[in-house]
Amino acid sequence: MYSVILLGTGNLAQHLFDAFISAPNVKIEQVYGRNAEKLKRFQPQVATCSIPSEIKDADVYIIAVKDDAIVQVAEHLSSKKGIVVHTSGAKEMDCIPIPNRGVFYPLQTFTEGKPLDFKDIPVCLEVKQDSSLQLLQALAQEVSGRVYQIDSEQRKKLHLAAVFVNNFTNHLYHIGEDICQKEGLSFSLLQPLIQETAKKILEISPIEAQTGPARRGDDQSIKSHLSLLKNQKHVELYTLFSEAIKKVYEEKL
Ligand SMILES: NC(=O)c1ccc[n+]([C@@H]2O[C@H](COP(=O)([O-])OP(=O)(O)OC[C@H]3O[C@@H](n4cnc5c(N)ncnc54)[C@H](OP(=O)(O)O)[C@@H]3O)[C@@H](O)[C@H]2O)c1
Repeated sequence: MYSVILLGTGNLAQHLFDAFISAPNVKIEQVYGRNAEKLKRFQPQVATCSIPSEIKDADVYIIAVKDDAIVQVAEHLSSKKGIVVHTSGAKEMDCIPIPNRGVFYPLQTFTEGKPLDFKDIPVCLEVKQDSSLQLLQALAQEVSGRVYQIDSEQRKKLHLAAVFVNNFTNHLYHIGEDICQKEGLSFSLLQPLIQETAKKILEISPIEAQTGPARRGDDQSIKSHLSLLKNQKHVELYTLFSEAIKKVYEEKL
């Protein structure tokens, strides 16, 4: 049985809690959070605390707080024997000021109240002390079928790639929704297109999957789209993306 303490009560902490609570060989010893109201969600099932000196002993401490607070929270764990890991894609492992440290980074977008099946989520692990690797791997395998060892430099690049494919794409959905709403059109009209775009790259590479005016070099259509945009930021983004796409395919045009 692996004993775990979760530190944090936000999006990821809630998803980790739901995954670990039903794992047969994991015991969530405690959830730590500074906000007593948010701890209520966990209280029917496990012990909670909001005072650092009351944090219990465990095999693994998982810090799932905002990136800028990781060090501050880790400092409460300096006398603990278990491994202390953070869950961030962007922060290096060595930011944790404790010898037995590591990273447990689940590569997915987690939102409160939006359940996910953890078993398909890649979990990227890193440890400072080799002796802790087996424990962290076994813990990750309790919830995920996709566990990888990835160092801090690679993880930062992975996170960078994730920002492009998730955060930026989602912002583009937002712009699409805004354009539809202003025309009284339902955003749901675009949903089959969004789904097919995501499905397609499971079978062919993004470079093969690209379509549209910039790939074809249809400059008149590009001009016409630009003339329809009223928001200057959207004009800049449209121009930037069209130029970037054109550059990729220009030899073929
Ligand atoms: N969400 C994702 O999709 C995702 C995916 C992979 C990895 N991660 C990583 O998971 C970690 C948590 O992200 P999240 O999305 O769960 O964030 P979140 O929903 O914004 O939750 C942040 C948590 O941090 C706590 N916190 C902030 N400052 C604190 C401090 N000084 N001391 C103690 N607790 C503090 C917050 O407590 P209060 O409620 O009291 O403010 C809250 O519990 C981050 O390192 C992030 O990079 C997130």
